[in-house]
This record gives sequence, C-alpha cells and structure tokens, in this order.
Amino acid sequence: MPFDMNSFQRHLSLETSSESLKRTNDSYTSGDNGSTEFERPMESRPRQIETHHSLDERSLNDIISSGLSSPRPPRQLETVKSSECLEALLSPSIRSSAGTPREHHAFEPHPMIADAWEALRRSMVFFRSKPVGTIAALDPTEDSLNYNQVFVRDFVPSALAFLMNGEPEIVKNFLLKTLRLQSIEKRIDCFTLGEGVMPASFKVLHDPVRKTDTMIADFGESAIGRVAPVDSGFWWIILLRAYTKSTGDHTLADMPDCQRGMRLILTLCLADGFDTFPTLLCADGCCMVDRRMGIYGYPIEIQSLFFMALRSAKSLIKAEGDGKEFLERIDKRLHALSFHIREYFWLDHQQLNNIYRFKTEEYSHTAVNKFNVIPDSIPDWIFDFLPLKGGFFIGNVSPARMDFRWFAIGNFMAILSSLATSEQASAIMDLLEARWTELVGDMPLKVSYPAMEGHEWRIVTGCDPKNTRWSYHNAGSWPVILWMLTAACIKAGRPQIARRAIEQVETRLAKDGWPEYYDGKLGRYVGKQARKFQTWSIAGYLVAKMMLEDPSHLGMIGLEEDKKMKPSLTRSASWTA
Ligand code: GLC
Repeated sequence: MPFDMNSFQRHLSLETSSESLKRTNDSYTSGDNGSTEFERPMESRPRQIETHHSLDERSLNDIISSGLSSPRPPRQLETVKSSECLEALLSPSIRSSAGTPREHHAFEPHPMIADAWEALRRSMVFFRSKPVGTIAALDPTEDSLNYNQVFVRDFVPSALAFLMNGEPEIVKNFLLKTLRLQSIEKRIDCFTLGEGVMPASFKVLHDPVRKTDTMIADFGESAIGRVAPVDSGFWWIILLRAYTKSTGDHTLADMPDCQRGMRLILTLCLADGFDTFPTLLCADGCCMVDRRMGIYGYPIEIQSLFFMALRSAKSLIKAEGDGKEFLERIDKRLHALSFHIREYFWLDHQQLNNIYRFKTEEYSHTAVNKFNVIPDSIPDWIFDFLPLKGGFFIGNVSPARMDFRWFAIGNFMAILSSLATSEQASAIMDLLEARWTELVGDMPLKVSYPAMEGHEWRIVTGCDPKNTRWSYHNAGSWPVILWMLTAACIKAGRPQIARRAIEQVETRLAKDGWPEYYDGKLGRYVGKQARKFQTWSIAGYLVAKMMLEDPSHLGMIGLEEDKKMKPSLTRSASWTA
C-alpha cells in the first residue's frame, strides 16, 4: 500500500490537537481507553519505493552532501553511481537491503537484519495505542530496574532506524510526548530544576481497571546518583532536525510549542554566569556515562552534543520576534565553542610534545599554558598510545586538569557536527586504524579508553562495582556506538573502517542475544551485568547497515562544515579576540 505522507500528517495533527491531557506534578494521564502494549508488534509497513543502487561516476562526497543539503522524503527512488570509494562501500557483501525485510532481494540481506527488525518492533512502547518510543531492554532474565523505560538517548538510534525505513510516525509522537514532559514541574526534594530540562527516561503505565495510560518521567530525581541528563535536551533537538530533514515536514519544528521547547533547552546553556570558557560545566554522570566516572567538568561528549544541538537549532529556530536575538547568541557561542574545543581539547603527537614541555605558573595574557597543566600529570599510557599520525579530542580540559582518556561518543559526534575540522576528522580515523585493537577490539567499540584500575578506580568511581576495569563505562565495549562510528566514517570519507567493524559485530552480536555491552581489554566477554536484547544495540546495528547501504541517510545526522567557523586565531594571539 503506498504511503501517503499528506494524509498521514493530517491524521497526526488531528490526533495531537484532540488529545486531552490532565497534568499532575510528575505525570500526565490520558482520560481515554488507550492501552499500553509493550509487546505488540507494529504492523509492518512496506516501503514505498524500493531503493536500488547502481554504480556510476558520482563521488561519495556528492552523495553525502546531497543528503546533507536537501530534505529527503522517505524512500525515494535514487540512483547512486560509482567511484573508488563507492565501489568499496557497495561491494556485494553489504549491498543487501537493511530496511524492513521484504520478499524479493537482488542481494540476500544478512540474516541478522530480519532478527533485528523483529526485536526492534517488539520493543515499541504505546501510549493510547500510538507508538511513542522503544523500551531500553527486553531482557526477560534480568531484573528490569529502569530498563523497562523509554530513554531519550537510547531512542535516538531507534528513531533513526524508523526514519530511514520511512516510518516517521513514532518519531513525531516521541518528540511531542517528551515535549509535554518538559513542561512538567521538576523537583528533587525542595529544589526545582530548570524549566528546559528534558527527562532521561519515561515509563508508560497502563491501568487495566480505569483503562488509562499514565506517563511517568524521570528527570534525575529517581536516577541512580540523582543527576539530571544534560544530553537529553540536546538529543531532542538533534532528533527534531533529523525528523525535519528526513521527512521534509517543517510543520512540527515550526509549531510554537517546539520553538519554545528548543529555546528553553538552550536558555539553560546560554545563560550568562561565572564561566570563563564557552564549554558547558557539568556534573559527573550527566550523559550516556551516567554514573560517577570522573567526567565532571567539561566532558567532550556534552560539548560535542551541545555544539550539534546549537547548530541544529540554528537551522530550526525561526528568526521572528526575539528569535533573531536568540540566533545571534547561538552564533556567538558556536564560534567561541568551536575555537575552544579545536584548540584546547585537540591532542596529536605535536601537541602532546608541546604539553610535555609546558612551563607552569605563567601569569598574564601571554601564557602559553593557559590552564596551568603540570606536565607531570600526563599519564604514562598516552605517550605509547598516541601514534605519530592521528589525533583526537581528549575527554576533558579544565584548570590544571587534562583528562587524556578517549571517549568515543564525543569524538564521533564532533565529526558529525563538523566541530572537528576535516583534518581533525581524518586524524581521528587515522587513530582508529592505528589503535584498532585498543579502541575497537573484538567487539566494537570502547566507550572510553583506557580503563581505570586500583587506587585511581577507587578514588574516581567511588569503588563502583559495576564500573570495574574494562567493564561498562570504564572502557567497556558498546555495540550501540557502531552507528556513530559508521556515520562518522562515511562523513570522513573512510567507510571501509566502519565496514570492518560491522563485519566484526556480525560474527557475534545476534548469537549473544544483542547484549548491552561487552567486557575485557578486547571486548570479548558479554558484560558482567549487561542486559540482553538491549534496544540500542539492535537499532544501532540497523542504522549502521542502512547508512552504509545508502550514505545519503547521513544528511539526517551529519552537518556540513560551516566555513565561517574556521579558527581565525592562533594560540598565542587568542587573548586579543
Ligand atoms: C545505562 C547506560 C545509559 C542508558 C541506560 C539505558 O544506564 O549507562 O546510558 O541510557 O543504561 O539503556
């Protein structure tokens, strides 16, 4: 049945406007006979037109930039032609369809794809019979804790998979529902959180007697450690742009509620305060790494997401009323943030040598060692780890403290948002190739590197038994990161790196029951407390496959370099800015 976008949108807007919601302090209830069906598979909607790739002379860059610059109606017929890069990209082993499996294929899809789609559909969560998200994990063998909730960050790969498969409805519903949750008053004890904070997760409760569905959100007040998720709001804006880009439907982002939601999120970050840096000051555990892991301060993951959210908002916020002034503030921050991160977070062989020779206690504007980093604090491992060719953004930079650890999400999101210059993106790819065993290992890929152990682990994690060395957030391996790796590799023009990682994943991930994470130096062991059927491991694989098959999907999640943001200052002259 052909998919009619217009009637679909009409239907959705009617649904939304007729919804009557009764708000309570931390939940809202629908007064209708809706049902919550965690296990109900959504009807498989066949894709409208089969995407088929043939080879001609269009380059990879053309394909990516066509995706980057134009809205992409779901599943349009597209002809992609050959180049050396594409030849490698579309070699027969991966030229199968990664979308919802259909009956006739020119190339047989990997058997994991069908399993993955089935598992992803099983994870869908419904509110008043409408799909609104995916549950974090559907593992029947483990205590669910909060894994039976829809996490905002976890839903991102699910959303991308649905968008790439021409199924935007669940994404739109999710964006609207979380927007409603944002407007709830959020309290921890006697303290009220900022208006713009988005939840880490939400749960749909079904009352079979009253026949009502209730949504309960967690803004950090129930989370272990009681930390608010700084990343949720950024992912929300990034997803709103992905939805808009993928469907070409601007009506959602243009809605006054969505415009307000974006502004509230960014107002939290753009407010004037005591900051001397444009980076965002954060508490430990405020993002994907949601437990104490020594990432407090200015973690690269948040800075990259902040940058990407600002750039996404810039393309969505309307320049009306005070919107114009808001856009100016965004521009200023983007400029300062890109300079700061590119300059002070970047580490390559040359820069490490500079830091190694830093003088300390320099006072005044002429200081080279601006943050007074003491060379003795450089850890030994980094000298062996850093290859002559290659570089990366380090984990954190603050006064007298450089956290030299590698954090995958921060680096890949920096590439996708073009926070990394094209030279820096290539250098990150060089590092991945040179340090494959350490960063990718047997089961892609490490969330951070290296692991903390012994005394350092005791002090930094507070003796966290879940974050022991080479496990979980402490240098554990997370299959979900595969989608970000793939997108970053395509953007950096190195898709073969992603292909290698995907082939590794295909040897085990489904057989192991789609675990949340792997343990060990090489990521060889299913994680100690890893959930099975972890939705973002499943969706991450599907997104990686679909992107490699059709690189123009990158336009949803990748941003072209903004030439105006090239650093115009040199290290020694920056104080004159
Ligand atoms: C773990 C992860 C977190 C994720 C959650 C649900 O707590 O650290 O990032 O959102 O599980 O999967």
